[in-house]
Amino acid sequence: MNDSIGQKPFGPLRSYGRLKSRPIKPRQAGLMDSLLPGLALDLSAPLDRETLKPDAAEVWLEIGFGGGEHMAAQAAMHPQALILGAEPFVNGAASAVRHIDERKLDNVRLHHGDARDLIAALPDACLERVFILFPDPWPKARHHKRRLIQPEVLSALARVLKPGGRLRFATDWADYADWTLERILGSGLFDWPAERAADWRVPPADHVTTRYEEKKLGDCAPVFLDFVRRDTARPG
Ligand SMILES: C[S@@+](CC[C@H](N)C(=O)[O-])C[C@H]1O[C@@H](n2cnc3c(N)ncnc32)[C@H](O)[C@@H]1O
Repeated sequence: MNDSIGQKPFGPLRSYGRLKSRPIKPRQAGLMDSLLPGLALDLSAPLDRETLKPDAAEVWLEIGFGGGEHMAAQAAMHPQALILGAEPFVNGAASAVRHIDERKLDNVRLHHGDARDLIAALPDACLERVFILFPDPWPKARHHKRRLIQPEVLSALARVLKPGGRLRFATDWADYADWTLERILGSGLFDWPAERAADWRVPPADHVTTRYEEKKLGDCAPVFLDFVRRDTARPG
């Protein structure tokens, strides 16, 4: 893989793979034109929680929502929460727009692009929950630098999460689970309240199975790591 493909001149390394696969179906293409503009977040100015949706009791973020089935299901189950979703994969955004339309959701906003740009536009301590579910594993050692879980992303997430806010990370790659635990606990910014193997091996009660999870492409059973943002940073 050519590391320079699709790079912004000084931006972070691309943490995602392909941007498009098969042609978008006409109905989804129509919804992309008609619905997406109203759902899209404007990142040209810093985002303000009040203007996003003043009546939302909570604001959640899903990074790399893929086809959007988890995001849409969570939005339907939690109408009190506004869910922000970021995904650069065109077919994923088109699928998410279809879910939002079919479920008639009014509590989802989308950034069709890199979540790191969305996080940078968010105010401090504005999120109650963040989901990173089955992120691109980049299993080869020379691609590890592309993994989404990097110190700068963790600092940015810690900034936008409220103290006590929760971060859920799931993967079916054993090495990515270890990588993430090491970096998140090493950051001193999060606690990991798990006590027994079932806490990371059994899907959490509020989890909704994702399309990528169903494919079972990894090298282990899914691992669910639920972290809590600390009030103040302490050595890991
Ligand atoms: C392996 S897929 C999993 C999708 C979905 N979460 C699921 O479980 O079905 C990972 C997704 O993360 C997206 N992604 C990777 N880096 C991202 C970033 N920096 N911002 C937003 N999405 C990203 C990719 O485009 C891809 O769709």
